[in-house]
Amino acid sequence: MVHFSQVFAAALLATEVVAHPGSNTNKEILRRQAHLDHPERRSVVSCKRDLVGSGWVREQHIRREARLHELRVAAGFAKPGDLVRRDVSEVEAEYGANAACTLDPESTEGPYWVTGELVRSDVLNTEKGAITHLDINVIDTSGCKPVTDAFVELWGSNATGVYTGVQARGNGDGSATSLVSNALRGLQPTAANGTATFITVIPGHYVGRTNHLHTIIHHGAKLLANNTVQGGTISHVGQFYVEQNFLGEVEKTVPYNTNKQAITKNANDPLFNMAKQGGDDPVLKISLIGKTIEDGLYATIDVGVNPKAKQNPQPVNMWTAQGGKPFPGSPWTGYPDTCKYCGFRPPKKVREIFGFA
Ligand SMILES: *[C@@H]1O[C@H](CO)[C@@H](O)[C@H](O)[C@H]1NC(C)=O
Ligand SMILES: *[C@@H]1O[C@H](CO)[C@@H](O)[C@H](O)[C@H]1NC(C)=O
Ligand SMILES: *[C@@H]1O[C@H](CO)[C@@H](O)[C@H](O)[C@H]1NC(C)=O
Repeated sequence: MVHFSQVFAAALLATEVVAHPGSNTNKEILRRQAHLDHPERRSVVSCKRDLVGSGWVREQHIRREARLHELRVAAGFAKPGDLVRRDVSEVEAEYGANAACTLDPESTEGPYWVTGELVRSDVLNTEKGAITHLDINVIDTSGCKPVTDAFVELWGSNATGVYTGVQARGNGDGSATSLVSNALRGLQPTAANGTATFITVIPGHYVGRTNHLHTIIHHGAKLLANNTVQGGTISHVGQFYVEQNFLGEVEKTVPYNTNKQAITKNANDPLFNMAKQGGDDPVLKISLIGKTIEDGLYATIDVGVNPKAKQNPQPVNMWTAQGGKPFPGSPWTGYPDTCKYCGFRPPKKVREIFGFA
């Protein structure tokens, strides 16, 4: 690790830290004001100047580059001294153009959110699939700063497109077997850099949906003694996706290729197309750790939120020491046949744009 900090320092010195606003408070205040006056402050792109100026983009790029290298070394695909760094100024210039991602705040939690999940980074349990080290940065787009005190919740279907913790017609064989597992579900706090990290798998596809991961961002929630969280507010309900060509390669690997459910591609998934509206990009940036997908993946995404926003997603179940139990009064109970929220359809406008019935 000595090596990394040396490279880190050298990279900073080589490019000079002139962009750092710390030396000129007036400029920082003016920038701040200009940002606050900006009529459209929601997306990460709108925070580009602040995030680049404060050095955050640079730090995060260097941190993520080092993390990927660390994973490569650990898996035997690189030597500690091998790290070839990308020009950071190039990364800063591109930030927001194709790197930054914000998510559609109106995305749905879907019928399979199980509340009460554990705070843990590795959510694999015994699930198999394309093991993915996921690095999520959360940015407060109302203040253009990393969010350092949130909990990021993550859940996804397993490699053959079945959710744990729930029982529903269409979820696998519809039996109760999945209820007893909390695999591929968990929460992580963001810390100094606004980062939450998970180890999970690329989710499988299931009827009607392209492969996706769900996320919810909690603010002000309290960590309980049994490693769950309680209370607080939810600013953001979103979904992460995988680029279609890469997804095609994942689907060719075991056990994805044993999934008999019909495939829906990104382009044909109304929720994916909704999430891409307004300049948002909910697609994970994925790197191979080794030579093949089976060697593992490193995925990153930046999520812009307004911590004061209040979304009201509804869980179908609650995770308990005895497995998933119905959440009292949930509008998803009975999905897909008899629930209050059954028959979700994308808004008319979206259906018109994408030609969905
Ligand atoms: C934040 O990022 C910096 C720069 O990459 C790193 O040195 C530091 O360890 C990170 N802090 C946390 C809490 O992850
Ligand atoms: C996904 O979950 C179902 C239900 O528990 C299970 O039958 C299946 O084997 C799992 N898929 C994988 C790839 O483990
Ligand atoms: C954790 O504790 C809370 C509060 O006592 C309780 O409601 C919840 O069921 C517990 N969760 C688990 C998984 O034990």
